[in-house]
Amino acid sequence: MGRHIMTQTIKAHGGSLVNREVKGTKRDKALNDAKNLKSLTISNWAISDLELIGIGGFSPLEGFMGERDYKSVVNNIRLADGSVWSVPITLSVTNEQAKEYGLGEEISLKGEDGITYGTMVVEEKYTYDKKLEANNVYGTTDEAHPGVKKLYERGDIYLGGPITLLNRPDHGDFDEFYMDPEETRNMFKDLGWKTVVGFQTRNPVHRAHEHIQKTALEAVDGLLLNPLVGETKSDDIPADVRMESYQVILDNYYVKDRVRLVIYPAAMRYAGPREAILHAIVRKNYGCTHFIVGRDHAGVGDYYGTYDAQDLIAQFEEELNMTIFKFEHAFYCTVCENMASAKTCPHDKENHVHLSGTKVRELLRNGERPPKEFSRPEVADVLIKGMEQN
Ligand code: ADX
Repeated sequence: MGRHIMTQTIKAHGGSLVNREVKGTKRDKALNDAKNLKSLTISNWAISDLELIGIGGFSPLEGFMGERDYKSVVNNIRLADGSVWSVPITLSVTNEQAKEYGLGEEISLKGEDGITYGTMVVEEKYTYDKKLEANNVYGTTDEAHPGVKKLYERGDIYLGGPITLLNRPDHGDFDEFYMDPEETRNMFKDLGWKTVVGFQTRNPVHRAHEHIQKTALEAVDGLLLNPLVGETKSDDIPADVRMESYQVILDNYYVKDRVRLVIYPAAMRYAGPREAILHAIVRKNYGCTHFIVGRDHAGVGDYYGTYDAQDLIAQFEEELNMTIFKFEHAFYCTVCENMASAKTCPHDKENHVHLSGTKVRELLRNGERPPKEFSRPEVADVLIKGMEQN
């Protein structure tokens, strides 16, 4: 990325981009020292959080949350210092595990693969109220909710304290689409983009997504297509298939100099409105000035109202210092013969092409393309092939 000293157009959340990664000889030494530390094996989800803290995607967080920040986030959507934060970033362990580590002790954080991803100073160990976290963060205590289910499966103690990132996880085939926030910021600068809209997705880009992205793009310099590729629920379309579909749609339907595809290596929480705020903050850290929140952002099932995420984030928009593009439910209208929404199309519902996720998956599984008003044929073909192989 060449350039190093540059003025940032948008400040990271909290003021400056956090960097908790050590490199070079310092890293070699830290990795060597880590061999003598007690180790904790952490989940892939926790590794992705560790990575995002380390590279500054979760700025201003410097570690897994301590109790004051945690409670403040759960109860007030703010860190203890008052800055906006919506989803707890925590490291859970069982009671037995917690007993192994003393307060103030530095421990190493390993993956199931035996790799030391980082270290952490255990400054706090605290119990927490799962029902309260579920209710406030996910808006439900129903264990059928995929985020709540994960929460209920976690150990009963949270460890809080600053981390150091020593190894970034391997992103395999997605490596060429991996950039950290410093790199995306430099890239936007090099591209001459002063305003950039971030787009979060955990789905293939269908016509409605394309429509709202391009509508947003009319008002800004560039689009960061930033699909989440960390852990998702099993019936979501796998990230590798989605990545192929993104490349196909960008090649065929987007202006090259106006869009960049970069992965967002986080786990999906399905926390709807609360997660929309997290998604916006992270994209600000990546250098986006604008962020899209459409219909039922980060939602699942019927847990959230269609525009709950927009209503919640609107309350924090000024403090976030970003512009949130809020889009109504978009669809293709066969009378208008274009993409539209209730704001722009006067025709009855029966003229609108709308397919549920379940219906789309069913079609694809049978090797059938959804209508071209719903999905670009090139995208449908990638998805059909992907479904065959999975
Ligand atoms: S999400 O879980 O990542 O939010 P998805 O990939 O479906 O799911 O959505 C990505 C973004 O597009 C979100 O901001 C969502 O609100 C928006 N979106 C998805 N479908 C539509 C639609 N038909 N109309 C308007 N916005 C939509």
